[in-house]
Amino acid sequence: MTDIAAPAVSRSVVTEIPGPNSRALIERKAQAVPQAIPHQLPVFVASAHDAIITDVDGNRFIDLGCGIGVTTVGHTNDAVVEAVREQVGKLTHSLFGTTPYEPYVRVAEYLAAHTPGDHHKKSFFVNSGSEAVENGVKIARKFTGRRAVAVVEHGYHGRTNLTMTMNYKPAPYATGMGPLASDIFHAPGSYPLQDGLNGADAAERTQYYLEKHVGVSDLACLVIEPIQGEGGFIVPADGYLPAMQEWCTANGVVMIADEVQSGICRTGRTFASEHFDWVPDMVLSAKGIAGGMPLAGVTGRAEIMDSVHVGGIGGTFGGNPVSCAAAVAVFEQIESRDLNAEAQRIERVLRPLLDGLAERHPEIIEVRGKGAMLALEFIDPESGAPIATGPISEAAGRDGVLVLTAGTDYNVLRFLPSLAITDEQLREAVEVIDRAIESVTSAA
Ligand SMILES: Cc1ncc(COP(=O)(O)O)c(C=O)c1O
Repeated sequence: MTDIAAPAVSRSVVTEIPGPNSRALIERKAQAVPQAIPHQLPVFVASAHDAIITDVDGNRFIDLGCGIGVTTVGHTNDAVVEAVREQVGKLTHSLFGTTPYEPYVRVAEYLAAHTPGDHHKKSFFVNSGSEAVENGVKIARKFTGRRAVAVVEHGYHGRTNLTMTMNYKPAPYATGMGPLASDIFHAPGSYPLQDGLNGADAAERTQYYLEKHVGVSDLACLVIEPIQGEGGFIVPADGYLPAMQEWCTANGVVMIADEVQSGICRTGRTFASEHFDWVPDMVLSAKGIAGGMPLAGVTGRAEIMDSVHVGGIGGTFGGNPVSCAAAVAVFEQIESRDLNAEAQRIERVLRPLLDGLAERHPEIIEVRGKGAMLALEFIDPESGAPIATGPISEAAGRDGVLVLTAGTDYNVLRFLPSLAITDEQLREAVEVIDRAIESVTSAA
């Protein structure tokens, strides 16, 4: 007997892309939604499970993007769906700051146990990665009594006024939208492919910048992504992050890991900082933390978090009980499904496939990343100019694979699959991307 309820496991393109139903919705979108809100793939999603997205025309796509690293445990993960269903029937909102509820405290306890370091930690919750960054900065300023905020080149931290100022690229995030926030400094970081520096030398360069251009006595915090996401999955040289933490600790600067994209088992460790033996003073998490529900956490040393007066942090929706219940379901699966082992499996399968692409396509100058956070950087071998990866992503999309772009020069393809993706789906997706690269580079 055929199991008609069995979830789809492979891609299937049954209409032109976009199909007729998506085309009609795209027209309605153009009337009702500002043009600034784009769509990378011109299809409307009807449903999704694990690593497969189904559109409103019945086309199925292998998803290598996870809504930019959010559905890490898989789309409509069974445990998350069950936890959400149960919580919705009990309590959807009460505002933790007025009448608290237990799931919020449980997520804070999980974060204390799973973020790097065994010091006493405390957490509170907001709604988005940008808000987590904003609050990390507020708390660091309050704790240190200092004004300046440092970030490193190629970083991305969000779209609020403060965080768009912290981004390395003003365009498109802040173009025409000033005045920007004051007291933000962009220091050189570590990008081994471009700077060729080892960790110690890159750290010395960052420290020199901070000492000469900012002044340590005014510096409240240094905010760094352990693996830079939007910048193109840039992995810093070994030793860079611990050297910067040591320097921050010696100078009374709060060092903050923006793990919004790299956190929650994405890289084969619960937090990417662990790959670098980095124990940050504060860890910011969002995206994958609640299996697709909106939640972001600010976790820090108890003495830093407790330096804020009552009412100085918080908000109406932050730490919503349904989102917290979903996060508990995600944290329980870290052990029960060994999510870090799944990310390591993905690296074992995907990395050699990407190395194979690099052998076949000389435009791929580097394969990099960790776990289920891998990327290809494209440079024209003759001119040395970056090759934009948008057309490759578009061609793959029309052939049933959703793959995202990244990079300061828009020349990176990034792979952020769900940890539920199968080896077979990875192989199929890479075959499609191989064809997409061939069609785009041979037409150039
Ligand atoms: C490292 C990092 N920080 C912050 C953000 C902002 O998060 P959000 O879009 O949830 O505001 C992002 C989003 O991509 C991110 O990758």
